[in-house]
Amino acid sequence: MHKIIINGGKKLNGEINISGAKNSAVALIPASILCDEEVLITNVPDISDVDALEEILIYLNAKIDRKNKNEVVISSEEVNNKPINDTMAKRLRASYYFMGALLGKYKHVEMSFPGGCSIGKRPIDLHLKGFKALGADILGNDENIILDAKELKGTTIDLDFASVGATINIMFAAVKAEGTTIINNAAKEPEIINVADFLNEMGAKITGAGTSKITIEGVDHLHSCKHYVIPDRIEAGTYIIIASACGEKVTIKNIIPEHIASLLKKLKEMNVKIDVNENEVTVYESDNIKPVYIKTEVYPGFPTDLQQVLASLLVKSYGKSIIEETIWENRFLNLYELEKMGAKISVKDKIATIEGPTVLKNAEINATDLRAGAGLVVAALETNGITIINNADYILRGYENIVEKLNNLGADVKLQ
Ligand code: EPZ
Repeated sequence: MHKIIINGGKKLNGEINISGAKNSAVALIPASILCDEEVLITNVPDISDVDALEEILIYLNAKIDRKNKNEVVISSEEVNNKPINDTMAKRLRASYYFMGALLGKYKHVEMSFPGGCSIGKRPIDLHLKGFKALGADILGNDENIILDAKELKGTTIDLDFASVGATINIMFAAVKAEGTTIINNAAKEPEIINVADFLNEMGAKITGAGTSKITIEGVDHLHSCKHYVIPDRIEAGTYIIIASACGEKVTIKNIIPEHIASLLKKLKEMNVKIDVNENEVTVYESDNIKPVYIKTEVYPGFPTDLQQVLASLLVKSYGKSIIEETIWENRFLNLYELEKMGAKISVKDKIATIEGPTVLKNAEINATDLRAGAGLVVAALETNGITIINNADYILRGYENIVEKLNNLGADVKLQ
């Protein structure tokens, strides 16, 4: 495991370009299996979660060309639909997208359960219910899952929760099914639209993505296309929070501000000075940061993936802030690390209280998951002197060139 070592307390200035969205790319890459020809995906982030998916595609005998790390050409014409073992599946949560993609294309999948960050129970019952409704038998045991269908037939699926993964996986399984599938209570995250656009560019017939009712009319053939990964709203939010905590004047470019409207609203409430333009925002040095109440919600509500990052800015606010996490059960592990740095925090069930302002002190701290790690980077940048963040590989799963990007703004960050 790598460490990130930050000599903090520097004022950040300059411009930063946001990469393609991890949570789109990790769905688009498995979705390429559904295509009967070659696809080109551009603006792909160069992160270790993409490396892990590439490894699975190569194992399945797909041809993948990543010579230019941000452009991926995938040809799935000669895929060999073999069981995906535990080591490959457990490297990331998004390996579950091979379930929908292989089921949709070959009507048969064998794979181990997916892995991913430890942020609470991460069941896939809603994905499986959807596959079953489309006609798949669900076999296997506690470790491996086998999905098998004689045929897949369109139907209406009412999701109990607007799950991002289940919505996308059901689209994959339904895209070549016979007839029409309707997903009610579908997730509305921008990544869902980006994935549906990709499938439509290949010839699928999907309408309603981005609303809570998605309709998929099955087609027989999916053809070649070129597709652009939308900017990563969580990476954008992370750098906006970093700029709010440590910036003098930082412009965050290549973003879609509408995708982070809930964050921008909260930051304005906190007294952070931000100019919002068409594809970029500029954050100015702010003092007298005000405390806020955050409740995580499905899109367009405040994203769970940013609450851990924001917590490190709330430490600087004048008063009591509250974070209520409603999506995941165990997403406060970062706060125990902030306590080691002197933050005044209490956690009860899904509610955390942060009492500020605190000037954090250096410590050796541990990234426990991707966004917890990103939150610790914010804390270390705020703190004068050397902070060591262990288990930095979690951070590299989702942030392209984080060390270079921060150093370009004037930070002093090393990866070891
Ligand atoms: C996606 O996870 C993201 N991951 C997560 O990002 C993000 O936190 C989450 O959506 C919510 O926005 C990817 O896109 C790869 P869900 P996903 O299914 O799809 C429950 C990050 O930091 N649930 O919308 O797995 C589940 O337990 C990551 O980038 C079921 O009960 O999330 C959770 O409480 C971490 N049964 C809630 O729904 C199911 O079958 C939300 O899950 C599926 C989900």
